[in-house]
Amino acid sequence: MGMFFKQRNSSDKENVFGQVKKQAKVITFLNQKGGVGKTTLSFNTAHALKNVGHKVLCIDMDPQSNLSLLFNIDSTNSEAPHIFQLLINSVKELKTLHTESNWLDVVIKGDIDIIPAGQELSGFELSVAGINSPRPLVLKRFLEKSKILESYDYIIIDSPPTLGLLVVNILCAAEGLMVPFRPDEFSKKGLSHLHEVLLDIEDMGVAAAPSVLAHIPNLVDARRKQEGSDLKSIVKDLKEDLKTVPVVEPFYNRASLVKSHAAKKSVYDYNSKDFKNLQIQFNQLVNIIEEWRV
Ligand SMILES: Nc1ncnc2c1ncn2[C@@H]1O[C@H](COP(=O)(O)OP(=O)(O)OP(=O)(O)O)[C@@H](O)[C@H]1O
Ligand SMILES: [Mg+2]
Repeated sequence: MGMFFKQRNSSDKENVFGQVKKQAKVITFLNQKGGVGKTTLSFNTAHALKNVGHKVLCIDMDPQSNLSLLFNIDSTNSEAPHIFQLLINSVKELKTLHTESNWLDVVIKGDIDIIPAGQELSGFELSVAGINSPRPLVLKRFLEKSKILESYDYIIIDSPPTLGLLVVNILCAAEGLMVPFRPDEFSKKGLSHLHEVLLDIEDMGVAAAPSVLAHIPNLVDARRKQEGSDLKSIVKDLKEDLKTVPVVEPFYNRASLVKSHAAKKSVYDYNSKDFKNLQIQFNQLVNIIEEWRV
């Protein structure tokens, strides 16, 4: 049903004129481990949400700018402002670093809008080192102060493979968290570390930590028995540690995903059977997102 009817978000607010004001839900794909599929899953889930009628904004928060590249934006070779300037401009104390740009100048419009990243984003931590306002809340406050939340149904944030200040900012700004992981011997430690960081955020008391919407096993090699048993034991541990944490059906290592990625296309741009299965899997992620109420 979700395929054909656009649902109104539970968090949409009616104003005094009875008009519905949007209130975007902010979701991030995050894991401090590199190469687990954060960018690939962000990109395709954004397309899946768009395809069922939602208005979607992607924000690239990774200085590597891989998500921007998937949208054909090469910020490494351009002087154009990106998310870094918007974040800096939103901090009053950093007046000397401010530029003219606001988010409407920076967002690149399309079927899915995107605020790109660029290399300067890696200097974020240093740039805000001396400010008095809370450093973990720069992104959250930027989203709240601008009209961005009112302009979209969903905001999908792609994260860098670290646990530094950028990622803490993402975790404070997001309400929903998707955790892709590769079920190898190192991932248990990584996942429990990530959950500790979520608890730390709650402890800081400045923002609520996001709800974990799904753990997503990715790049699973169906032919390797070891991975199958690693996955089983990780799922078991996650369930014991976190009681009700959802672990979705694994995404297998698929040549078709590599192909669409290389062509900068989503899995919905293809018709063959391989892609059909992937489309079904991404639609399932949409169901999880739509059924979740903040
Ligand atoms: N299920 C899959 N099957 C095949 N290839 C995949 C799959 N998921 C991701 N990939 C490929 O693996 C590589 C890493 O994926 P991706 O860039 O999405 O990971 P990431 O977590 O964003 O990495 P980083 O931490 O560097 O940002 C990419 O080349 C991507 O095309
Ligand atoms: Mg990435």
